[in-house]
Amino acid sequence: MKRMFKANPLVRIAGLAIVLLLLTGCGKGLVEKVKIGFVVKQPEEPWFQREWKFAEQAARKYGFELVKLEARDSERALAVIDTMAIQGVKGFVICTPDVRLGPQIVAKTQQKGMKVISVDDQFVKPDGTFMTDVPYLGIAARKIGEDVGTELFKEMQKRGWKPEETGACVITWNELDTTRERTEGAIDSLTKAGFPKERIFTAPQKTSDLEGAFNAGNILLTQQSQIKRWLIAGMNDSAVLGAVRAMESKGLGADAVIGIGINGTDCIGELAKPNPTGFLGSMLLQSRIHGFVTAEMMYKWVAEGVEPPKDTRTTGILITREDFKQVLTDQGLGDLVK
Ligand code: GLA
Repeated sequence: MKRMFKANPLVRIAGLAIVLLLLTGCGKGLVEKVKIGFVVKQPEEPWFQREWKFAEQAARKYGFELVKLEARDSERALAVIDTMAIQGVKGFVICTPDVRLGPQIVAKTQQKGMKVISVDDQFVKPDGTFMTDVPYLGIAARKIGEDVGTELFKEMQKRGWKPEETGACVITWNELDTTRERTEGAIDSLTKAGFPKERIFTAPQKTSDLEGAFNAGNILLTQQSQIKRWLIAGMNDSAVLGAVRAMESKGLGADAVIGIGINGTDCIGELAKPNPTGFLGSMLLQSRIHGFVTAEMMYKWVAEGVEPPKDTRTTGILITREDFKQVLTDQGLGDLVK
């Protein structure tokens, strides 16, 4: 049998032809890479740029092709699913611009024979409950928010400020559970620590960016102009930075304001400023897990049939002006502080 195979010239020619096809790229169809999509709602936020960057690392490790797309609104979110289907994407990770779009995203994804994992913002059903059947990776939002409140209170005590002479400005974005839980957590831990409830003021942002937070902060400061010392919490770095800027515009700087953000990726320029501002620090989230691990999960699901866990939560650690360079470097984010 062995001798026969060796001797058969037809088989040898066919083999050679396949090798040639592969080498010249004519046989592209035979070696085409798996394609995985990664869709984000706010590509201008460093947080989402980090997710993409880490997802690219997963693509390099596993040899798949990453298709990065932005979707700032619902229409675009549905349109990019078509785009991905045409490109041959087998599955995608998404932080949707609107969590209520979840059922439509899932329907379209199934119709196209693709798979979907949601990151950061969990899909919700029309009745407001979560779509727990769609794999989700997000942050342990309440705990991280509680840690913000605890750290704010500690810093206030360290500075010797009296709670009855201080206000807490909480910039809220209640459209999303993950963001509502963060600010509720901060309020809970502040009140548990002994901060007077009536001195905690919520200010809803109309848009989920720095400008929206700036405007919300300004309105609150106009209403409470008698308060001269503030603690600030919000859903992420941009929210707290917006409020810090609003305080500055009223003459309240680093000695009158303590703000702690969430993300840790969107405040590097602020922490690197030569003179301290009211922005004390941030709860650094694990963008590597949000980007690399979700992309990896999707690849393994598509290529190996390994189903991802339905619910994964990540934690955060406080970074400040003093230690952010070291902590970011330790967390694999060293390029952000070079
Ligand atoms: C939401 C926020 C982002 C980031 C992520 C983390 O999507 O908009 O800024 O905090 O959550 O999961």
